[in-house]
Amino acid sequence: MTTIQACIFDLDGVIVDTAVYHYRAWKRLADELGFDLTEEDNEKLKGVSRMASLDLILQWGGIAKTDAEKEELAARKNAWYVDMISKMTPGELLPGAKEFVESCRQAGIKTALGSASKNSGTILEKVGIDHLFDVVIDGNKVSKPKPDPEVFLKGAEALHIVPGNCVVFEDAIAGIAAAHNGGMKAVGIGSPEVLTRADLVVSGLDKMNLDKLRELETKPVIAGRNDEAIS
Ligand code: BG6
Ligand code: MG
Repeated sequence: MTTIQACIFDLDGVIVDTAVYHYRAWKRLADELGFDLTEEDNEKLKGVSRMASLDLILQWGGIAKTDAEKEELAARKNAWYVDMISKMTPGELLPGAKEFVESCRQAGIKTALGSASKNSGTILEKVGIDHLFDVVIDGNKVSKPKPDPEVFLKGAEALHIVPGNCVVFEDAIAGIAAAHNGGMKAVGIGSPEVLTRADLVVSGLDKMNLDKLRELETKPVIAGRNDEAIS
């Protein structure tokens, strides 16, 4: 039995749905490079860092680029992306996200953001919830991508809560694995058929509540399973 003292939230796909903006920007880049990027391809980029996403896209397009060229392409994509997210409004918060984070805080549970994005500050500010996180750990503060647990472990450390007392909310398989690799429990946001390893799966934070959170306290912590090893 553990006591849940902190909730760590992924951003994209959990708090907001920015995947559509990432897709538009990556698709524009692929178009300029002369190939198509499908929505199905985009699914594989969820939770993947900017440079790793670019590497995958170039691989799919059969295009080789130097490191300097890749830096330029990533910067070009990011400028388009930043232009889109700078117009985001609180209306783009996913249903129940703000309310659940608030209910955690009212119950004395600490809250952190744990995201691969280097743009999380802009997004949180635009949707008006930057004040709801005690700690923000994002792509500017980590070097190892999920399923490495670095982002969540840094969050727990900054909150001064031991990993076993933290619960992570994630929409990506690699994020669920990152939580487990860090010795934390993981709530999957999405479909149970996809997020098979999560300790609990809900379709969105509008379906989450403190009772369901407390039920997780009786589940054993699963630390670093072999089949979720860091790649
Ligand atoms: C993740 C997204 O949260 O952040 C990925 O799911 C994205 O699609 C990654 O590539 C990095 O985001 P950014 O904003 O730093 O380019
Ligand atoms: Mg995500």
